[in-house]
Amino acid sequence: MRPLDQLRSLKAKLSAVIVAAVAVTVTVVAVGHDAGFPWIPVVLTAGLLSLGMIQLLARGMTSPVKEMADAARAMAKGDYGRRVTATSRDEVGELARSFNKMASELAAVDRMRRDFLANVSHELRTPIGALQAVLENLVDGVESLDPKALDTMLSQVKRLGRLVEQLLDLSRLESGAIPFHPVDFPIKPVLEQAVRESELHSRGELKEVELSCSIRPENLMLKGDPERMHQVVANIVENAVRHSPDGGRVDVSARAESDVVTIEVLDEGPGIPENEEARVFERFYRVDAARSSSDGGTGLGLAIAKGIVDLHGGDMRVEQRSPGCRMVVTLPGATS
Ligand SMILES: Nc1ncnc2c1ncn2[C@@H]1O[C@H](COP(=O)(O)OP(=O)(O)OP(=O)(O)O)[C@@H](O)[C@H]1O
Ligand SMILES: [Mg+2]
Repeated sequence: MRPLDQLRSLKAKLSAVIVAAVAVTVTVVAVGHDAGFPWIPVVLTAGLLSLGMIQLLARGMTSPVKEMADAARAMAKGDYGRRVTATSRDEVGELARSFNKMASELAAVDRMRRDFLANVSHELRTPIGALQAVLENLVDGVESLDPKALDTMLSQVKRLGRLVEQLLDLSRLESGAIPFHPVDFPIKPVLEQAVRESELHSRGELKEVELSCSIRPENLMLKGDPERMHQVVANIVENAVRHSPDGGRVDVSARAESDVVTIEVLDEGPGIPENEEARVFERFYRVDAARSSSDGGTGLGLAIAKGIVDLHGGDMRVEQRSPGCRMVVTLPGATS
């Protein structure tokens, strides 16, 4: 704690310092004069004592500014761990507190950037490694160029292509450069197409999942970008099918209440634990990382879907149900 930390403004602090210095000077001069000392030593002593008083009272008044300059230099070199003393209640203290807050936010952004880079590298390495292994086997003659080898290579190239596409979408969403063409479009074909695609996908995985699709009213229209909305619904339905047990049901529905459209996708899988409901919308977040990545999921789908729903001015959330998961998307702009 510094002597004048309790004063709320720099002006008040400066006034207090000046008043104290003047008071010391006047007292020393008066006392010295009354005691009959010569003028010169009295004035010199008064000057020295008031300087000492200024040093004592003004201690720490400007030191946070210097600390901030040092910390800013450290930040420029990538050290976001430095904080400045922010005990005073004046403008400098306020600046120091804002500086500390900014430093913590920058540290968090830097951590996210590092995590993102590590995740991207990891996700790229897996398919590239698999491709390299097959190609090496082919070159060494260990394996022949049969349909199985070609199929492995194709699926890894598809995985790479999908990852690059997702990263591009994320970067476009963040920079606001994503192609977004809002029009009035019927929801039914969009939902039905997503359901058909997932049906094919589940058959490819040799999994029996019963999909249903209901829209009330049938001719429900929405203002938005149909291609982007298809991307959102396709990801949610794909997730639902992927997490469904064999023989499970996935119900996709859309309904309108005044001008809000609610799209719901229900499945009978393991569901998303309550404490992870918000985290599944983070980039690269997977509840069961080991299982999801072996299934081909990168954990980007819901982050992109949420970005697109935000772009439409809507909201997306997970709701608990037992058993399974209920994914709810609400969007403004219903017309019929
Ligand atoms: N219907 C669901 N049931 C259970 N868990 C789910 C469901 N939907 C999503 N999740 C969990 O949320 C995580 C994030 O989903 P997201 O769609 O973002 O990624 P992904 O499906 O793993 O990969 P991607 O969509 O990028 O291919 C999933 O890995 C999974 O753990
Ligand atoms: Mg997904």
